[in-house]
Amino acid sequence: MKRFQFGALVLLLSAGSLPIFLLGFGASNPTTVVTQAQAAEPQSSPKKAAASYNAEGELIRPADHREWVFVGAPVTPNDMNDGKAAFPEFHNVYIDPASFASYKKKGTFPEGTVILKELVSVGSKSMDSGNGYFQGEFISLEAMVKDNRRFKDEPGGWAFYRFGEAPDYKAAGLRMKTESCNDCHSGANEDYVFTETYPVLRAAKAKAAK
Ligand code: HEC
Repeated sequence: MKRFQFGALVLLLSAGSLPIFLLGFGASNPTTVVTQAQAAEPQSSPKKAAASYNAEGELIRPADHREWVFVGAPVTPNDMNDGKAAFPEFHNVYIDPASFASYKKKGTFPEGTVILKELVSVGSKSMDSGNGYFQGEFISLEAMVKDNRRFKDEPGGWAFYRFGEAPDYKAAGLRMKTESCNDCHSGANEDYVFTETYPVLRAAKAKAAK
C-alpha cells in the first residue's frame, strides 16, 4: 500500500513537473522572461483617479489634498508687489501621489495629473530664527488637471479650476476660461507647469533621466 502511494506520488510529480520544465525552457526566450518578471511583481489594484467630476463637469475637490505630495511654496508677498500681489501670498503646491510616482519614473506628467495651489497669507514676519515671511492663514484653492481626451480643446490638455475662498472651499471647483489661466501657463518651462520653481519636481525629474 505504502509502495503504491509512493509510486503514485512519483507519477504525479513527474506529470506535474512536465509543464514546469516547459516553462523553464520557454524562459530562455527574452519575451517570456519579461512576462515572468511582470507576473512576479505584486499586482496593485487599479488606482482611483485623482480627478473626478460632478454632473455639471465641475472638478470634485479632493478631500485629502494636504496629504498629497507637497512640491514647494513660491511666495509673492503683497509688500513686494505694491500691496496687491496677483496671487497673494504663499502658494503651497501639491501633486496627486500616483502622478508624482509616474513623474519620478518617466519625467513627464501623466494623463490625469492633478496639481493644486493653495494660497496662504503671510502671517508673522519675525520668529526666533530671524526676520522673514512665515505662513499665516489659508486664503484660497485652485487646481489644474491634465486630460487630453476630456479637455481636447485646451492647450496642452490642461483645464484650470477654482474652489473659492477658505475656510469654506466649494465641494466642486468652477472651470476657468482658457484666457484666465491657461494662456499664462503656456509660458511655463515644462508642460504648462512652472517646474523650475519646485526643487522636489526638479530632483524627481533628474532621477527619471538616469
Ligand atoms: C500671469 C500668469 C499666470 C496666470 C494668469 C495664472 N497663473 Fe498659475 N502660476 C503662474 C506662475 C508663474 C506659477 C508658479 C510660480 C508661483 O506660484 O508664483 C503658477 C502656479 C500655478 C499652479 C501650480 C503649478 C505650476 O504650474 O507651477 C497652479 C495649480 C496654478 N498656477 C493655477 C492657476 C489658475 C487656476 C489660474 C487661473 C485662475 C492661474 N494659475 C493663472 C502664473 C500664472
